[in-house]
Amino acid sequence: MTTTQAGIEGFATEDRRFDPPAELAASANVREDAYATAAADRLSFWEEQARRLQWAQPWDTALDWQPPFAKWFVGGKLNVAVNCLDRHVDAGNGDRIALHWVGEPEDDTRDLTYRELLRQVSRTAHALTELGVQAGDRVCIYLPMVPEAVISMLACARIGAAHSVVFGGFSAQALVDRITDADAKVVITADGGYRRGAASALKPAVDEAVKRCPSVTAVVVVKRTGQDVDWVEGRDHWWADVVDRQPQSHQAEAFDAEQPLFLLYTSGTTGKPKGILHTSGGYLVQTAYTHWAVFDLKPETDVYWCTADVGWVTGHSYLTYGPLANGCTQVMYEGTPDAGGRDRWWKIIETYGVTILYTAPTAIRTFMKWGEELPGAHDLSSLRVLGSVGEPINPEAWMWYRRVIGGDRCPIVDTWWQTETGAMMIAPLPGVSSCKPGSAMGPLPGISLDVVDGEGTSVGEVGGGFLTLDEPWPAMLRGIWGDEQRYRDTYWSRFEGRYFAGDGAKWDSDHVLWLLGRVDDVMNVSGHRISTTEVESALVSHPSVAEAAVVGATDPTTGQAIVAFVTVKGSVADDISSGEAFAQELRDHVATQIGPIAKPKQIHITPELPKTRSGKIMRRLLKDVAENRELGDVTTLADPTVVNAISARASSQPAGGSPQD
Ligand code: PRX
Repeated sequence: MTTTQAGIEGFATEDRRFDPPAELAASANVREDAYATAAADRLSFWEEQARRLQWAQPWDTALDWQPPFAKWFVGGKLNVAVNCLDRHVDAGNGDRIALHWVGEPEDDTRDLTYRELLRQVSRTAHALTELGVQAGDRVCIYLPMVPEAVISMLACARIGAAHSVVFGGFSAQALVDRITDADAKVVITADGGYRRGAASALKPAVDEAVKRCPSVTAVVVVKRTGQDVDWVEGRDHWWADVVDRQPQSHQAEAFDAEQPLFLLYTSGTTGKPKGILHTSGGYLVQTAYTHWAVFDLKPETDVYWCTADVGWVTGHSYLTYGPLANGCTQVMYEGTPDAGGRDRWWKIIETYGVTILYTAPTAIRTFMKWGEELPGAHDLSSLRVLGSVGEPINPEAWMWYRRVIGGDRCPIVDTWWQTETGAMMIAPLPGVSSCKPGSAMGPLPGISLDVVDGEGTSVGEVGGGFLTLDEPWPAMLRGIWGDEQRYRDTYWSRFEGRYFAGDGAKWDSDHVLWLLGRVDDVMNVSGHRISTTEVESALVSHPSVAEAAVVGATDPTTGQAIVAFVTVKGSVADDISSGEAFAQELRDHVATQIGPIAKPKQIHITPELPKTRSGKIMRRLLKDVAENRELGDVTTLADPTVVNAISARASSQPAGGSPQD
């Protein structure tokens, strides 16, 4: 919590406000009265939004709420892919560009119209059916940022199969865990992808994983880089071989509103990632509505760009489902921000006339470091709305984003939500709300939340505490795959009758909401959620490690950085002559267990960890050490001299470590 609080308080921006530009206020999709209308009758409000979609059969009941289980639009039937594609083609917009895809190597681009995207999705739906995938099955997608990722997701949706997209940066072991938990039948992958100017491999991780996953009967491989791959006859199929020969039209079936749409694994406070389950109708209603309302989307003229990877929830809700349900034109970029030069993003905005940009504070802070000359050398005047997501945006970054990227004219919408919420929950509306730098302002129309104290009592109009959601919302998770009890325990047990988000928040004196970061053992590194326990488990699985404690330390670019404290087993301690070589070995070990994103930035090898007399590791003290702060209260330590030893070691060891990838 300290990161953001310090940032916010250090800047004292609570009194600073930017009103919506007059032109935007006049033409906005959503007016101020939306808040009152939704508050007066929340269910009617969401039913009204649901009518923006195409239903094969209307629902009977808007909400069936058996806490903590919700069913939305009960009795309704729809096909999610039809809503994202056929509907727009049928309305005469088949020639509109759906995706301006930009590959990492320059000049490697593809434009797909809605008509073409529909054809590709239809062929892929046939191919999946041919491979034995049926409605209700799970398909794992492990792809780089290529159009086939979106095509695969929509093809699954079209045939009623749930996808489980695994971020391409996760390791073979992480894939095994996710494929096994979901019992996936098919894996869709690529030979590799491009990252920082070089081809990286993806298929070897799948080969290694699938050996240990008997549920997988077929692997479909997109040829992206042309690198050599191992091949298992009968199991492996080139995408082009199974997809291209299929019919280009596909009769889509309508599915129940509660048909599972996808699983997405995310870190929790324990070592095992949770398969967050989302279903079809309510999810699509809220992603489509929020994408249209929060970005003030004009599908006929806007060019929208969400920079998130499809492996994360933002890539699901605001790259795939929301934008395509709304029929807009968007950019999808494969690579890193510095591929082909540190001004690559600004070139893309200039080339495609991007009007709405949705990105993460960590990217903004990186650009701040690279200097304003780079964006300054490009014409960014097409931009009209800027979005932020994934972590609290510090006021300095907010102001820089507004001035340097937004030319002091674009409103910034800071959007708070989670994998579990499925869609945006807290954000300003660009034509309606005044914005305070660093604040997500307040709940969206139709969303009800409350900030409560440790006892679950509302703090009222002003004050800080824990963020809870006190009414169900259409895109809410329907559970944790295969673990009902964990769903109840994780989200619904801390505060009776309320969903506990895991974030701290406060209302300021104007009743404006400030998000203060996680209050649990979940770190936020470059907007990615990583659990301290998961990294600790990975570290102790190394044969030389006795114990490990991991903390998230404040980092000026990535928000938080992973810092690990490790004790080694007695018999090997003397052999570890070079601490840095061993630390590197441990970092690589974590990359193998989880993925490069979970590599600790710093690893301190210490003789002991600070523990209370009951044996609990005192992370608070380790955080103090990691952030070079004066140590807090040490009186409850079993052995107070331990911390002196750790601090001395920490300051004598090189910080080392590559930044998270
Ligand atoms: O701590 C909050 C932070 O990211 C967490 C959710 O992470 P994830 O499920 O990976 O989804 C990220 C993309 C939606 C939250 O619990 N978070 C997300 N957006 C914001 C944020 N914190 C502050 N401000 C935000 N705008």
